[in-house]
Amino acid sequence: MKDLAGRTAFVTGGANGIGLGLARALLAEGCKVAIADIRQDSIDEALKVLDNQQAIGIRLDVASRDAFAAAADEAEDRLGPVSLLFNNAGINLFQTIDESSYDDWDWVLGVNLHGVINGIQTFVPRMKERGEGGHIVNTASMAAFLCGPLPGIYNTTKFAVRGMSESLRYSLAPQGIGVSLLCPGLVKSYIYASDDIRPEALKGEMKPVNTEFVEQLGGVHQFGMEPDVIAARVIEAVKANRFYIFSHPEFKDELKGVFDEIIEAFRDYPKDPGYDQRTGFEAGRRESYAKARAEARGEG
Ligand SMILES: NC(=O)c1ccc[n+]([C@@H]2O[C@H](COP(=O)([O-])OP(=O)(O)OC[C@H]3O[C@@H](n4cnc5c(N)ncnc54)[C@H](O)[C@@H]3O)[C@@H](O)[C@H]2O)c1
Repeated sequence: MKDLAGRTAFVTGGANGIGLGLARALLAEGCKVAIADIRQDSIDEALKVLDNQQAIGIRLDVASRDAFAAAADEAEDRLGPVSLLFNNAGINLFQTIDESSYDDWDWVLGVNLHGVINGIQTFVPRMKERGEGGHIVNTASMAAFLCGPLPGIYNTTKFAVRGMSESLRYSLAPQGIGVSLLCPGLVKSYIYASDDIRPEALKGEMKPVNTEFVEQLGGVHQFGMEPDVIAARVIEAVKANRFYIFSHPEFKDELKGVFDEIIEAFRDYPKDPGYDQRTGFEAGRRESYAKARAEARGEG
């Protein structure tokens, strides 16, 4: 998609951080932009800062299927058919999996994974039916590749978004709808304040918020990459229909180390019974996957 001008974009979590950077960049490209966010005060502030008639705000909790569909209807009534979707809203929770409760799982999965699923389920049928192509960018993280003990549930959601996005990219390529995966490192954003927007219903089994740690996190995020820098890299990737958007080049060597470790984990076991038949089947699968990847790159 070389030219984004005139298209309508829907940006979840668009009132702060990366989402606000995306909204600004999309407006500069001549798009109409719906900012969908759970924080009304941030939406109001964002609209004031953007000061652009082509931007609207919609209050939305992405974890709600019905609310997502209603927000999509509102955006399309006011701005026209959405053909650029940015599933970007996200929260973090720094706590190990073994110390997490079902409420913790429901909260983080609800926003970071189901929020993206809801975006896909809501908008993909509309985009397909209209046949005018489009592009979807799902915000994951370097945490879609790199695991640590603390962001356990967060890691789980971002790995899931990565797998979902890659599969979706192949199934939507024939429809002229591109899919990209944004994998940022540290960003100058407001995500450290995620506890503020945890729903009451999911607070039952939560650990008390460690305000000192949250303050420290806030300080660290001040050194994150500027959302406008990330947004410019996203727009460039959308225009080129690239899948992986690694906004932070400093992660390249670490990622290479992870992939080397994975490859080194393979063992040259002796052939088991069924090996030849199985690998015969796998050869066909490999060929069809390679074809899907080539088609998604526009080489099919
Ligand atoms: N901040 C980082 O260092 C970093 C690094 C890698 C990936 N990310 C990812 O980037 C994305 C954007 O986060 P950010 O860093 O810009 O944080 P941010 O907190 O500045 O912005 C996220 C926005 O999402 C909104 N939001 C949260 N829950 C929501 C919900 N249920 N429904 C609708 N809106 C909701 C928030 O109100 C906020 O405006 C997230 O998916 C995050 O996981 C962030």
